[in-house]
Amino acid sequence: MQTLNITKPDDLHLHLRDGAALASIVNHTAAQFTRAIIMPNLRPPVLTTAMALEYKQQILDCVDEQYSFEPLMTLYLTDNTSAEEINTAAKSDFVKALKYYPAGATTNSDQGVTDIRKPTVALEAMMETGLPLLVHGEVTDNSVDVFDREAVFIDKVLTPLVKDFPDLKIVFEHITTRAAVDFVLSANANIVATITPQHILLNRNDLFKGGLRPHNYCLPILKAEDDRLAVQEAATSGNAKFFLGTDSAPHERKNKETGCGCAGIFSAHIALELYAEAFDAIGKLDKLEAFASHYGADFYGLAHNEGQITLIKEAFEIPETIAFGDSVLVPFRAGETSSWQLKK
Ligand code: DOR
Ligand code: ZN
Repeated sequence: MQTLNITKPDDLHLHLRDGAALASIVNHTAAQFTRAIIMPNLRPPVLTTAMALEYKQQILDCVDEQYSFEPLMTLYLTDNTSAEEINTAAKSDFVKALKYYPAGATTNSDQGVTDIRKPTVALEAMMETGLPLLVHGEVTDNSVDVFDREAVFIDKVLTPLVKDFPDLKIVFEHITTRAAVDFVLSANANIVATITPQHILLNRNDLFKGGLRPHNYCLPILKAEDDRLAVQEAATSGNAKFFLGTDSAPHERKNKETGCGCAGIFSAHIALELYAEAFDAIGKLDKLEAFASHYGADFYGLAHNEGQITLIKEAFEIPETIAFGDSVLVPFRAGETSSWQLKK
């Protein structure tokens, strides 16, 4: 039987929600990862360091005592985020970044940034303090084709942003295109990217295989095969600019299987198994450890985790549903077989 031991990993992009939903899902992540960067797109969003502290405690209260799990918190950037708030966040030891949602781009982004030239004082304070900006890289202009929104964002928003704020640390989150890979490769060392399992494993045909597949719908949307190949190549290349961020984003079943379904794929139940499968499929398992456990920590200036986890190449059945608050969600690969499993 094939096994793989790696340093305990971190998930550098995760949605945990709050309340009963949080309590029902956080241990899927705590069972796999030592730390995770927690997205702030709650209702209301996490706008201040004080709110992030409260949310962090809420998360810790739900973590099973068998796990040691550290939530790394983020604040939600708005047009009006002050330099003072950035300085307070930078002084805390638990707020690790600001999240930039273009207003209207995705779930709970309506209070996001309407024009990235507006929060200039915040961006300047972030450059000074070294707090990274985590970017949801899609334009919201309805005249732009949904499959082109990341590429247009690079030209219209990200390129000028990098030029105007050359010392700003930027994580281009959940990249999906060859254009994004090329942008990150050609940019300076401050610019890195996270990669999800779905954008390595699926292409846009998977949205329509035999019928409409709402559980494969996320934002940025799945792209064409050439883009998937570029993202897969980046993730498995051994380049420290690309690291693991699942973007696991749970939604109740009824909010996905409906006339206007929410964007988001829940992958926390088999996150490492999915990456192991993807790396194994092209003979790059030797590149998984650094991608999952070193490069992200290095970028955020964190020590590597102590201890190891073991992945075993042994099939197991993925459940059809998973408990979510007082309801259920349909997880990624529901009812299918995983070729790898995490040793418990
Ligand atoms: O698919 C997504 N779901 N993309 C996002 O950017 C947000 C996320 C969510 O919060 O559900
Ligand atoms: Zn996300």
